[in-house]
Amino acid sequence: MAGGASTPRLAAAVSEAGGLGSLAAGYKTADGMYQEIKQVRSLTSRPFGVNLFMPQPEYADPAAVEVYRNQLAGEATWYETELGDTDVKRDDGYEAKLAILRDDPVPLVSFTFGCPTRKDVQALARVGTTTVVTVTTPEEALAAQEAGADAVCVQGVEAGGHQGTHRDNPETDRAGIGLLSLLTQVREAVRLPLIATGGLMRGAQVAAVLAAGADLAQLGTAFLVTPESGAHALHKQALTDPRFVRTELTRAFSGRPARGLVNRFLREHGPYAPAAYPQVHYLTSGLRKAAAKAGDPQAMALWAGQGHRLARELPAAELVEVLVAELDAARAVLAGHGAAGPGAGDGTDGAA
Ligand SMILES: Cc1cc2nc3c(=O)[nH]c(=O)nc-3n(C[C@H](O)[C@H](O)[C@H](O)COP(=O)(O)O)c2cc1C
Repeated sequence: MAGGASTPRLAAAVSEAGGLGSLAAGYKTADGMYQEIKQVRSLTSRPFGVNLFMPQPEYADPAAVEVYRNQLAGEATWYETELGDTDVKRDDGYEAKLAILRDDPVPLVSFTFGCPTRKDVQALARVGTTTVVTVTTPEEALAAQEAGADAVCVQGVEAGGHQGTHRDNPETDRAGIGLLSLLTQVREAVRLPLIATGGLMRGAQVAAVLAAGADLAQLGTAFLVTPESGAHALHKQALTDPRFVRTELTRAFSGRPARGLVNRFLREHGPYAPAAYPQVHYLTSGLRKAAAKAGDPQAMALWAGQGHRLARELPAAELVEVLVAELDAARAVLAGHGAAGPGAGDGTDGAA
């Protein structure tokens, strides 16, 4: 969970509790990523993952970004800040990060916003790293299989934060596929193990996706409210604040569709925000920080999945334990044995 929520403490706590914690490399420098990897290693000897953003193609329309800059001028004045520079690199330091991950391997590397090349996947496989590619359609899953990935993370439209769509295309807006439907389509398209993600907040939901063909489940929003999460306090509070009842996919903050709580900024600027990632991310970065500093959640990117109201403020390790207990109970019911009967699973799988 790039943008502040992901911390070495959170990743380590999840891994220590028997899940698979993940570090966000997105928006960090290669060295920043490496320092966090070292911190995780100092906190746990259990496996963990590192998530990379794929480099973005040059197709943002600079004129559209300038129009959006003008449309946000009033916001900058209101929050007494500047809009950011959009003449930015589009690769998120990808090659430098990969070089570190090849030299000093981690157990798992996952990719979002695109599919890595076969060569890069093979280089990681040679050093013993498991690779995962996030997909939002069966076609993207096939591309990941073709590239030699070990597994795909099947991301339903319910998911909080950015959709990992391989190529952002405004023509397919509002065509996002719900997790259960997507999972079945991907199951029938590829042979790879599947990690289901999007809107999962309870162990019973994890049982449901495992029954529907997933091998593992990945949760984001559920962990945003843990004390180990670096999400801003206002973001954490907003997730269960009755003033924020809806989520929507929007390009307002970053230029790429991402699901967040509907606030004033999203409502006002979402309708015309251009498809220009990461330019819009950098354009609005200072604004979002200024709003947070002013204590105003109405112009912050309050990323949240559709299940946000089910968030429980528990330490990460406890949350993993509760999820596993719920998963076991649900599996026992599915197997027709009641809460504590045989066939309830050994409680070691399911929560990532
Ligand atoms: C605050 C936040 C940041 C996220 N950042 C990333 C990221 O850096 N890389 C990534 O692959 N997915 C990212 N995601 C998406 C998650 O990997 C996952 O797909 C999503 O959280 C699942 O839906 P849920 O939030 O309803 O559990 C992020 C999600 C949230 C909520």
